[in-house]
Amino acid sequence: MGHWLPRAGIAALTACALAACGTGTGGDDPAGKGEAALTGRGPITLATGKDNSGVLPKVIDRWNAAHPEERVRVVELSDSPDEQRQRMIQDAELKSGEFSVLNLDVVWTAEFAANRWVVPLPENRRDTGAFLEPTLEGASYRGQLYAAPWTSDGGLLYFRKDLLRKAGAKPPRTWAGMKKTCAAVRKLPEAKGMSCYAGQFEKYEGLTVNFAEMVASAGGSLVDGRGRPHADSPEALKGLRFFADGIRDGMIPQKAITFKEEQGRQAFQQGRLVFHRQWPYQWTLANADDGSSKVAGAFGVAPLPGLDGPGVSSLGGHNLAISSAAENKATAHDFIRFMTGERMQRENLLLSSNAPTRTALYDDRKLVDKYPYLPVLKKSILGAEPRPRVVRYGDATAAIQEAAYGALSGEVRPKKALAELQRKLQRINGSP
Ligand code: GLC
Repeated sequence: MGHWLPRAGIAALTACALAACGTGTGGDDPAGKGEAALTGRGPITLATGKDNSGVLPKVIDRWNAAHPEERVRVVELSDSPDEQRQRMIQDAELKSGEFSVLNLDVVWTAEFAANRWVVPLPENRRDTGAFLEPTLEGASYRGQLYAAPWTSDGGLLYFRKDLLRKAGAKPPRTWAGMKKTCAAVRKLPEAKGMSCYAGQFEKYEGLTVNFAEMVASAGGSLVDGRGRPHADSPEALKGLRFFADGIRDGMIPQKAITFKEEQGRQAFQQGRLVFHRQWPYQWTLANADDGSSKVAGAFGVAPLPGLDGPGVSSLGGHNLAISSAAENKATAHDFIRFMTGERMQRENLLLSSNAPTRTALYDDRKLVDKYPYLPVLKKSILGAEPRPRVVRYGDATAAIQEAAYGALSGEVRPKKALAELQRKLQRINGSP
């Protein structure tokens, strides 16, 4: 079984300052937050968003075969993060204990921790050096770990390398370059009827991700280091305008405002897009040689473009946390350590191309041979911009989605949408 703590970390803890030390069962309220110890063994559940890669049954079977008395049952929720969050909050408020382990989107940590819907983990942050720092940040609230980083996510620019080559073009570094390259590609007979670009522009969490990237890639920041919003900055306006204009002038198909990850993936796999902003999970599925993808082997992956140079990704990813109402917390904790251990992360990467959270896997020669984009992805994650880290995340993301969708669908002028968003975010943030 993979250990969540690196060996050195475990050795350093032999004084057993943490009850989890050595046994994997404990938890003595390390943060002094009045949480119960991680006790209780038996069957548990894992509540998670839709398993688009189909990887979970394989991984869970592995655990269940080794732990017949402590089996895990997967409760698969919607493919929309907003709906997943609603369901998990509902369960937390009912204290039903139906969900033992929660697969939390990286942006929900503050909300779930502050409301005590999940318990603090006994692992000491200082002893988790094997993980990429932003993934630990995203799993912490006020310096305390509340979840274990399971998968990370960084936005990548998928491009049709076959068509770019034919057009004599390289992957673009700027938005304007992408537009120009696309115009050249579209002149090729084999690109007939293709659209240039799509991201996740439906009104849901993916739009918050994409909008935050537009702002950051234009040199702005939706929320600064102190949590203050800057949605009405000139950079935010330039970013949002480029994409709103793109929909108006046909660079982005009108239909893209109905795309979540999966609809965009289908469009890309069917050969309808030259460029697609997408997470790493698409790599494996779009390369499938079972006939489901028309672009297997014909695409590459590059950093996201930006206004004047390379763009900035939003930080995505998922962390495993233990529900406060869960009965078998000791089993839940062991299961989390199994899932986030190096062995299972490697397996997850090999099966699904989901981004690992452990640094070593990005530097592994064999893995880099198989997934040549890993260095690009690591850079994307290390340089990624977190979405607002606020307890009232649901309100913040709803306001962002409203503004971005209004502008992209052409209903509201970008400037007006951003001014309104700034007012709402200030209210949510409690600033004047
Ligand atoms: C991916 C990311 C997650 C993000 C979501 C948006 O699942 O990992 O952080 O919120 O996409 O759709």
